[in-house]
Amino acid sequence: MMKYIKIKGLMATIASATILFSGASVNAAEEGMMHPESNGFTSTGIFGKFDIPSLQRGLQVYIEVCSACHSMDLVAFRSLEDIGYNIDEVKAIAAEYDYEDTFDDDGELITRSGIPADYFPAPFANEKAARASNGGAMPPDFSTLIKAREHLGFFSSTYGEDYVVALMVGYEEDAPEGVEMNEGLYFNHYFAGNQIAMAPPLFDDIVEYADGTPATLHQTAYDVANFMAWASDPTMQERKEMGLKVMLFMFVFVILLYFTNKRVWRKVKKGEDIDPSKL
Ligand code: HEC
Repeated sequence: MMKYIKIKGLMATIASATILFSGASVNAAEEGMMHPESNGFTSTGIFGKFDIPSLQRGLQVYIEVCSACHSMDLVAFRSLEDIGYNIDEVKAIAAEYDYEDTFDDDGELITRSGIPADYFPAPFANEKAARASNGGAMPPDFSTLIKAREHLGFFSSTYGEDYVVALMVGYEEDAPEGVEMNEGLYFNHYFAGNQIAMAPPLFDDIVEYADGTPATLHQTAYDVANFMAWASDPTMQERKEMGLKVMLFMFVFVILLYFTNKRVWRKVKKGEDIDPSKL
């Protein structure tokens, strides 16, 4: 009977694990779409850590290139302190932007420069304006894009970061033979359907990195993807570190419980009389 219950329990575990993980890479199965390669991002996996210099380079790529089309509504300048800037540097970054949300004494709108409490401004006034400038396509907001492109499975995972790198380097100047391209779209091996409305945004030396790192296409793609991952999940490192501490605590706690349990029941097992006051 015991054995039967154990086997049944094991089978239930396997079955639920299969159900849990079977959602993996459903998207990658889409026709013609290649599976992104892993770039070994330091923030992925259970020991994930942020790579601060890369995040700062990624911010530079976002500001100088991607922010012309992509908004990042949920990120405030003040949170850039988390990626290694001091408050004066944050103030300087914020001051580069203008905001029109204050009135003078006559009730006229005035333009003021940004402060750390402001959020990154959107490049377009609204979705219609964004679409009108991009051939009808909408450049998605960066705040959660990495998470939306992440497919975590048991046997094969695609991190959103790796997808973005693949997308940046996955353009083909000419579509492969036999592929009929739609007007204004670009061929990309990693985009669902292979036709994307975004022109290749990155190429070698598109930025000059403040820290002197050579700005190759792959490096800029890696850094901006890293930055987008931070924007999507700024408390990742704290969360994972806390998780590991909890697991360690549970491990020690289980050992203690095991010996406590043994001690409490030792007399019963031996068949001795129990005096409850001496347990
Ligand atoms: C000239 C405007 C423009 C610039 C600059 C630009 N993008 Fe885009 N991006 C778009 C548009 C438009 C789309 C929507 C494409 C579509 O739906 O076909 C898009 C979509 C995307 C997507 C989503 C793809 C998906 O799976 O849906 C990612 C990721 C992306 N861009 C990353 C970037 C990065 C990183 C940069 C900066 C290095 C950048 N973009 C710069 C216009 C732009």
